[in-house]
Amino acid sequence: MTTSAIAVSGLRKAYKDKVVLDGIDFDVPAGTVFSLLGPNGAGKTTTVNVLTTLMRADGGTVRVAGHDLATEAGAVRAAIGVTGQFAAVDELLTGRENLQLMVDLNRRSIRNGGRVVPELLERFELAESADKPASTYSGGMRRKLDLAMTLVGDPQIIFLDEPTTGLDPRSRRTMWSIIRDLLADGVTVFLTTQYLEEADQLADRVAVLDQGRLVAQGTPAELKRMIPGTHIRLRFTTADELDEAARVLTDAVRDDEALTLRVPGDGGTKSLRTLLDRLDEYSLSAEECSVHTPDLDDVFLALTGRTTEVDAK
Ligand SMILES: Nc1ncnc2c1ncn2[C@@H]1O[C@H](COP(=O)(O)OP(=O)(O)O)[C@@H](O)[C@H]1O
Ligand SMILES: [Mg+2]
Repeated sequence: MTTSAIAVSGLRKAYKDKVVLDGIDFDVPAGTVFSLLGPNGAGKTTTVNVLTTLMRADGGTVRVAGHDLATEAGAVRAAIGVTGQFAAVDELLTGRENLQLMVDLNRRSIRNGGRVVPELLERFELAESADKPASTYSGGMRRKLDLAMTLVGDPQIIFLDEPTTGLDPRSRRTMWSIIRDLLADGVTVFLTTQYLEEADQLADRVAVLDQGRLVAQGTPAELKRMIPGTHIRLRFTTADELDEAARVLTDAVRDDEALTLRVPGDGGTKSLRTLLDRLDEYSLSAEECSVHTPDLDDVFLALTGRTTEVDAK
């Protein structure tokens, strides 16, 4: 039997009369990664704040690590670690001092106190900069230090609020590999993100948050099946050219207004070459050719008929 690390039922939260969570339900099996996907302002941080006891819910029931959030907040806090959207690192302290501070604050719960700090510095590739003030760290280093600080208490369940927003691609990949390592250690990870690709890379299950409700839930593969896949977009200069190309590329979806054809394909060089060869064969040429990978915008458009732009209300 799989046990739930996080079980949420009918969760509601409003700021005055602004409803942010309008009754959401989900379940995170222990030892898995669950990703809450949504654009800016969707309510991701609010969800994290409620689940981590930083904020009180207006309604619903939540159990974290088997404890009821409303009546056993202390036990919940003892089981979890939280890395917020904005790094909780003290800029004036060095990386080592920041970590040591966490060890001191956690003293009772840490068995291997003396080894923890150097081990974490090593594991997060921060050993070299350990004695420099955190104010000199890059965004990626800060996020890593922040996560390392979260791990000091050896939490069973970790909440990561947009851990890679604003990071360069390399730091993002490092963060992903750290998260995968956590999973291998048996930790449960609750992760919020604005990136479909991130949820796809890391999550066992994804839930899409929109206007206070979960509009979709499933594995990344299930979610992607609901949206148009990777495709190649060809734009032509005239309607006649579009017509001719559409006759040749029979599996393409045409958009007469934009003068484009959307051709299913994996975006790899092979499928691209096949496509271009075929155009060549019929002496056709497109004005523009681009490979389009589905992103959060496509998910939203498919699920809600709207784009992710936050509407003013
Ligand atoms: N303390 C607050 N008081 C009033 N409104 C808030 C507060 N915190 C967040 N909000 C509003 O609630 C909505 C959800 O915010 P948030 O949970 O931060 O979303 P996300 O993390 O997905 O960007 C936003 O419209 C935001 O402006
Ligand atoms: Mg947020």
